[in-house]
Amino acid sequence: MLRRKRDAPGADGEGEGTAPSPATSSAGSGDPLAPSLEARSLTLAWEGGPDVVRDVSLHVGSGEVVCLVGRSGCGKTTILHALSGLTRPVSGTVLLHGRDVTGTPGQVSYMLQKDLLIPSKRIIDNVCLPLVVGGMPRAEARAKAEPLMERFGLAGTEERWPGELSGGMRQRAAFMRTYLMGNDVVLLDEPFSALDALTRTDMRGWYCRMSAELSLATLAITHDVDEAVSMASRIYVLRGNPSGGVPSTIAREVVVDRPEGASAPEEFALTPAFLEAKREVLSLLGG
Ligand SMILES: Nc1ncnc2c1ncn2[C@@H]1O[C@H](COP(=O)(O)OP(=O)(O)OP(=O)(O)O)[C@@H](O)[C@H]1O
Ligand SMILES: [Mg+2]
Repeated sequence: MLRRKRDAPGADGEGEGTAPSPATSSAGSGDPLAPSLEARSLTLAWEGGPDVVRDVSLHVGSGEVVCLVGRSGCGKTTILHALSGLTRPVSGTVLLHGRDVTGTPGQVSYMLQKDLLIPSKRIIDNVCLPLVVGGMPRAEARAKAEPLMERFGLAGTEERWPGELSGGMRQRAAFMRTYLMGNDVVLLDEPFSALDALTRTDMRGWYCRMSAELSLATLAITHDVDEAVSMASRIYVLRGNPSGGVPSTIAREVVVDRPEGASAPEEFALTPAFLEAKREVLSLLGG
């Protein structure tokens, strides 16, 4: 039986999902050749309920963006909760750099489906939150975060309030706060869903560049097949109908064949290879 480990802030979909910790990388522990994140044969159910997903295995390597797609209610967020250690699987194992972390929260950075900034805190204090909650003095946390503001496209916004920023800027601030949780494995639940189409396109390219620079291993959930194909090196297609009594499983892992010279998501989206992968994912979701 899957049990909620604790009532994390945001377990209802708001705020951060893991206990923030000082920005120290967990890379290097465990087996250096192991994927950054691996799930082996996860079967998950909410307490007292039937299985939501059954026998799900996946992996994400350093510097890789991998997407998990599936219809609404098929169990994507349930999987992310278990990977983050907020809940414990019925069976199966979660490995981080080869180390068993099943049911252990605080090991990965997790940005929940509705990841809101705190309106009454300035941007710099919003992004520093994981450090401050982890025990770092506020001035030290600010000094640590300030040099990163430019990389996250937030230079000059330090003293502004969330309500004064564009949707894309707010989203970058939420990413930065997630990054400052200090883990090199990042779980994102519908990260761009609140943004308009053009900002989404920009943010996809920005995120892919930044995650490669920082060697993050990212598993992102999205409903948007275009988004998955344009960003991911691989896509896990989850299929099933848990509320109808059919636990979801991974129908297929689609490897996205990205041609030379089309590494940016917006360029790749104009190629025949993009359409081919999109068609494959759509047919799996439709079937
Ligand atoms: N906290 C919870 N307690 C009990 N059941 C839950 C809980 N959260 C989700 N479920 C159930 O688990 C199943 C999968 O839900 P989940 O939120 O993982 O879907 P999802 O794929 O993320 O959907 P969406 O794309 O709409 O976000 C659904 O049947 C849902 O009702
Ligand atoms: Mg969800």
